Amino acid sequence: MSIRKSIREQYLKFLDREPTLDDLDFYFQEIKNKKINLEQLSLILKNSNEFVKLQKVNSDKISRKIDTYNDVRIKGQTISSGYRESEDRYEEIFKFCKKFNRPISVLDLGAAEGYFTFRLSEDFSGVFIAVESDSQRNLLDSCKKNNNRNILLLEKQMNLKNLKNLKEVQHFDIVLALNIVHHFDEPFQDVIDTLVSMSSFCFFEHPNSLENSATKNSHRLKNEKLNLEKFEPQLLNKNESGLGDSTNKKLQRSMWLLKNTKSKTIDRPWRGTQKYNDEFGPDTQIDIKSNFDEIVIDYSLRDESRPWIQGIDLRTFLENNGVYPTNDDILNLIDNMKVDNARDLGPHNLILNGHELFAIDQNDKLDPVNTKEKLKSFLEQSGLL
Ligand SMILES: C[S@@+](CC[C@H](N)C(=O)[O-])C[C@H]1O[C@@H](n2cnc3c(N)ncnc32)[C@H](O)[C@@H]1O
Repeated sequence: MSIRKSIREQYLKFLDREPTLDDLDFYFQEIKNKKINLEQLSLILKNSNEFVKLQKVNSDKISRKIDTYNDVRIKGQTISSGYRESEDRYEEIFKFCKKFNRPISVLDLGAAEGYFTFRLSEDFSGVFIAVESDSQRNLLDSCKKNNNRNILLLEKQMNLKNLKNLKEVQHFDIVLALNIVHHFDEPFQDVIDTLVSMSSFCFFEHPNSLENSATKNSHRLKNEKLNLEKFEPQLLNKNESGLGDSTNKKLQRSMWLLKNTKSKTIDRPWRGTQKYNDEFGPDTQIDIKSNFDEIVIDYSLRDESRPWIQGIDLRTFLENNGVYPTNDDILNLIDNMKVDNARDLGPHNLILNGHELFAIDQNDKLDPVNTKEKLKSFLEQSGLL
């Protein structure tokens, strides 16, 4: 792994944030000139006030034994069973996805063993993005074994801030928020509001408020009543929690289909830049117009509307610890990318769908990153690859 990438990973691990470019350059020089090594960098970060403050916030988090939640599915076969019944839940998702007469994008947050991502990727065309924080679920290994190139995997513990950053730059036809919102430290309502805002539809399953301490954050379930009415909720089915003692196991969890009834927008070019509305004035964001037949994107700043390319931009993928396709795959995709007259190959301009990278917005200003080699060195310099 490159030094810059290692520095970046240590910042994300210990300080839960990106390093500034100055920090990245500074520690890169320190390590290159052998003034410190990577182990010493981790000590520096762990001794910082920022780390100590974060530890306080996280100190009451309890680590739990990992049980297989969902069936592990490889090439269409179940190779080991999870403790949670998932087929009925998948049936509802499948029925709904059938309504689309076009490729779809699905974000599966807290994908666990990836059951829903794999089934959707077998049954539909589009892009299926699994997000899972726990590498013990072996999801990367399952992705490699399934070798299904319409799947992306972000191996990342998302917090509310990460989700808000994602919302500002991406849109998904569907978000699967199945038994995940109650894992967040932030208010459940803020998490579900953010998930609905980055999607057109959201499947939402949440524990029963009577569940006991076998269920994560059970003490918050009774107090944090959710307002789902604004999403025109449809109750799809109820399923046993399957967790804890015999009483807790039998308690039913409801699965809802929620609809984003508000406008769907992209609010800034990439994380860290100004929002369109702050830079160019009101109503200058990018609007997404979608239905079951088509999805187009409308640039209010330029008189342009064009089909949306399903996938996520390479910068967002790498910043959120995209591990599948692997880094080597990404280098191959860059080498094989078809692009004439490249003017700006910044990673925010490259849409990744698993088997290809598409360059967008190549008619704008000439950017210093305008060749494949410059892109690779930019990704290395910024610690992304
Ligand atoms: C209860 S399982 C739900 C699995 C699946 N969504 C389902 O309903 O069948 C929750 C999964 O989310 C993962 N997880 C929890 N918090 C997360 C977070 N903030 N970001 C990403 N993954 C998370 C856990 O590691 C676990 O695998």
